[in-house]
Amino acid sequence: MHMCNVPALPIVGITACQAMAVWKRHFEEKGVTEPDHSIQYIIAHLFGAKTIDGLEQERLTEPLSHQKAEQIWKLCFQRLSRMPVQYVIEEWDFRDLTLKMRPPVFIPRPETEELVELVLADLKVKPGNGVGAEGRRTCLEVGCGSGAISLSLLKSLPWLRVIALDQSKDAVNLTRENALSLGLKDRLQIHHMDIVKDSDTVLSLCNQVSTLVSNPPYLFSEDMTSLEPEVLRFEDHAALDGGSDGLRVIRQILTLAPKILLNSGRVYLEVDPRHPPLIRRWAQEHVEELQYVETRVDFTNRPRFCILQKGR
Ligand SMILES: C[S@@+](CC[C@H](N)C(=O)[O-])C[C@H]1O[C@@H](n2cnc3c(N)ncnc32)[C@H](O)[C@@H]1O
Repeated sequence: MHMCNVPALPIVGITACQAMAVWKRHFEEKGVTEPDHSIQYIIAHLFGAKTIDGLEQERLTEPLSHQKAEQIWKLCFQRLSRMPVQYVIEEWDFRDLTLKMRPPVFIPRPETEELVELVLADLKVKPGNGVGAEGRRTCLEVGCGSGAISLSLLKSLPWLRVIALDQSKDAVNLTRENALSLGLKDRLQIHHMDIVKDSDTVLSLCNQVSTLVSNPPYLFSEDMTSLEPEVLRFEDHAALDGGSDGLRVIRQILTLAPKILLNSGRVYLEVDPRHPPLIRRWAQEHVEELQYVETRVDFTNRPRFCILQKGR
């Protein structure tokens, strides 16, 4: 990295407030996105808080120890290289969970919290016992990343079991670590598997489950070049690029869904706003056993979630 004009590490006397002002200005000058948030998350993290507002005012106005100042400078240098702040502080909150974050595993986005809410709204009633009870209590997640969706569902529904798979070994390892540290590993099976290449193994592992959820790679390949450096340089492109029409993994999920789901089982997908009509048409033409149930919008009112059902 070009080191000119980088704020020198002050030896004595600087406060956290002053460090925030120095780095906010520097991030702005260098075009780092969300300069304010970035430095605030870094300082809060180094003082063991979630946000700056959660810190006592004195912590911000007393002189920093040399060690603390060094830590701030180290993390800010990482942010200056455009590393997302979630990777810099190595954790991020998703719903009521704090998840470990590590490049290149996809950082969960706020819309995905809404996808989880949609699934939870349908799964709120615990299935009874008897024939098929195991399947009715089981959900498959395709592309678990850090484990955000699977672990949220498990945390909210103590009766649920989840099978999570991902083509990335880094993602599988991170989901496993997060499950362990959140005490949710006993009801979670995690597999390093590619739904396109390993479809036979996927089918042998999970058939007759009630729910299939996925936030798959869905960007149109041509849109990949316009991504922010944070995303392009640090996140796994296989987590983002859904092929020329963004539907490469989605088509495979829909093709396998009737073999994976119980009757009346549902598929919940997070997609690009251009996708819902394409998915509706494609499913009608290619997967007879699936009914398109509805499209739901996200908090910015864009059509982002598709729900389909096996049978009627
Ligand atoms: C957009 S990320 C979502 C991660 C996580 N579920 C979340 O919402 O934060 C998509 C994930 O799907 C995985 N993936 C991509 N192609 C896949 C495939 N063919 N089979 C299985 N997983 C795949 C990626 O490795 C990535 O972790």
